[in-house]
Amino acid sequence: MKIPGGAAFHDSIADVWDSRYERVGFKKRLRSFVSLFDQFVEPGQIWLDLGCGSGVLSSELIKRGAQVVAFDGSPSMLAAAKRALCDYGNVVSFQQGDAQNLSWSGSCAFDGVLCSSVVEYVEDPYELIREVGRVLKDDGLLIISIPTKKSLIRSVQKLLRPVIRIFGTDKYSYFDFSRFEIDSSAVTDWLKKVNLQLEHISGFDPLIPKNFHPILPPALLICIGRKFKKA
Ligand SMILES: C[S@@+](CC[C@H](N)C(=O)[O-])C[C@H]1O[C@@H](n2cnc3c(N)ncnc32)[C@H](O)[C@@H]1O
Repeated sequence: MKIPGGAAFHDSIADVWDSRYERVGFKKRLRSFVSLFDQFVEPGQIWLDLGCGSGVLSSELIKRGAQVVAFDGSPSMLAAAKRALCDYGNVVSFQQGDAQNLSWSGSCAFDGVLCSSVVEYVEDPYELIREVGRVLKDDGLLIISIPTKKSLIRSVQKLLRPVIRIFGTDKYSYFDFSRFEIDSSAVTDWLKKVNLQLEHISGFDPLIPKNFHPILPPALLICIGRKFKKA
């Protein structure tokens, strides 16, 4: 199988991905997701962790009683996830593929889909969200993070990147692959196109406190969409 571009990039950093969760910003992002899992994940549900990386968030879903399909395009990330989740053999399975073209045929397979820091890396974000809308059960939940347009931290990193490169380091190389960004005002319509209703939206930023998000856009929006029930 051809590895999608964003997944190939992550394949090359799979060995160090887990260590990023030791950083303050990643710890804060993990807490944001965990607090949503506490509210929305129910024991016995089946969740798809789309772009699971090394499985850090999959393990949090499992700890809340979910069964998880850990899905990623990067073989090395998936191998790291298998190692990390080896104690949960009966409640987790692994699949390699392209998030824009999922292998499940038909519809209505999952109670929930988690998509953390993935949609910005695919070639066609609409194809990813269309697939999510297809594989969710009616009334199923999507928890997704999406980078915001005009994010202060991303704008500063983009400006600093060429300067830092002069000194021989490409610190923000992920911008070669991380392309999709959205305005908070556009999220509702974007989800509606694939039959998902926006149920919750919050800003996440490693540095900027929430009170300042209206004037200093945060790095990410964490959104919850619910699939409309068929009438
Ligand atoms: C930034 S990492 C996030 C990993 C994990 N969700 C987390 O939050 O720790 C992005 C992940 O998406 C995967 N990915 C990128 N493009 C993909 C694609 N087209 N299909 C499947 N996985 C993809 C990468 O391999 C990588 O593991």
